Amino acid sequence: METCWWVLWWRLLVVLAVADVGLAIDEYSRADFPDGFIFGAGTSAYQVEGAANQDGRSPSVWDTFAHGGFAGGPTGDIAVDQYHKYKEDVQLMAEMGLDAYRFSISWSRLIPDGRGDVNPKGLEYYNNLINELISHGIKPLVSLYNFDHPQVLEDEYGGWVSRKMVEDFRAYAEVCFKVFGDRVSHWTTVNEPNILAHGSYDQGISPPGHCSPPFGAAACVHGNSTTEPYLVLHNILLAHASTVELYRRNYQGKQHGLIGITLYAFGFAPYSNLTEDVEATQRAKAFYLGWAADPLVYGDYPEIMKRNVGSRLPRFTTEESELVKGAFDFLGLIHYMQVSVKDNLSSLSLELRDFNADMGAEIMMALLGFDLIVQFPVRPRALQEILEDFKQLYGNPPIYVLENG
Ligand SMILES: *[C@@H]1O[C@H](CO)[C@@H](O)[C@H](O)[C@H]1NC(C)=O
Ligand SMILES: *[C@@H]1O[C@H](CO)[C@@H](O)[C@H](O)[C@H]1NC(C)=O
Ligand SMILES: *[C@@H]1O[C@H](CO)[C@@H](O)[C@H](O)[C@H]1NC(C)=O
Repeated sequence: METCWWVLWWRLLVVLAVADVGLAIDEYSRADFPDGFIFGAGTSAYQVEGAANQDGRSPSVWDTFAHGGFAGGPTGDIAVDQYHKYKEDVQLMAEMGLDAYRFSISWSRLIPDGRGDVNPKGLEYYNNLINELISHGIKPLVSLYNFDHPQVLEDEYGGWVSRKMVEDFRAYAEVCFKVFGDRVSHWTTVNEPNILAHGSYDQGISPPGHCSPPFGAAACVHGNSTTEPYLVLHNILLAHASTVELYRRNYQGKQHGLIGITLYAFGFAPYSNLTEDVEATQRAKAFYLGWAADPLVYGDYPEIMKRNVGSRLPRFTTEESELVKGAFDFLGLIHYMQVSVKDNLSSLSLELRDFNADMGAEIMMALLGFDLIVQFPVRPRALQEILEDFKQLYGNPPIYVLENG
């Protein structure tokens, strides 16, 4: 989860789900996996690049947030300096035997003004990185956006709370397709939009750090926890879908790549076997995963969300619904932990409600506390159950596990 970006700088993105915990890990080898199974690692731009103020890069909302001193956390000014050390890093990846490297492009490095001119140094860096990977037999999987749009767009019109982001995002994506698309086989647009919308616009714990009292884990200056998360996810889905439409129309035929979006999936288990907790668990799946997955597969939000959120949930026009429906060749899946879900339907009687209150359920974990770092509730079977849910609820779409661990 990118909200825990300071925890782990390198993560295995495809990790075996060990069925029997008793078995020692070294009893498995690559031969146990089918041909074509891809082992890789993943990062995001702000986590690893460093060189934040070099060669024409402008600040993104991540820079602003990190420099605002959130939780006294570090900044990505230098990070692991992949911007300067990419050759060394790729060499290490090759020695590790990785098949793929998933990284994200920093929008504000490539297009510092948010739209318009391409920064030649940014272009050169990503070309070098991609070419270095390919020359070592490592497939580049490129994520276009990891919580880090240019601060200039946030200042100009508020970033994702504005529909204007749809056009600017698509134009940025088009530059990436044009200049890198001949070598990129797998694109993902937005990383964890469901977590971004909730974490950044309800809880205020990731950039741009919006929330409003009495909600939110941070003291926020901007935002509206009751409305913005829904608006933001809606705009992200539209930006994603119109980008996919563009890629399919103008690039996919000659570049032969695939495009998708990456969703975050908790494992959810009922807190008890009481019917109300079992039902609350269904609501949690609809709110956390269905919020993005239902529009992508069926063209509309889950019924329970429409009912509970009411007029604060944006509606798709018929055209938008058709645009969003089916707008992926594959889904990227991010899964780290299982949480349990306890009914709290009483929250629906509150006049002022945020995401959790609309869900009418309580997620039983110190989701926002630092305990999370040492108490990551990992349960290997949860990944299996999520994949089963995708099969049952969403027609078994092609899935790449892009982060796990
Ligand atoms: C958030 O938006 C709702 C609906 O427009 C409004 O009633 C509420 O006052 C707003 N809250 C804040 C903190 O601006
Ligand atoms: C629910 O019931 C099942 C089957 O009896 C049991 O295995 C499980 O531990 C129970 N779960 C909880 C949370 O009590
Ligand atoms: C459950 O809902 C009530 C409102 O009815 C709220 O005050 C309380 O904080 C909620 N509990 C949790 C843990 O979210």
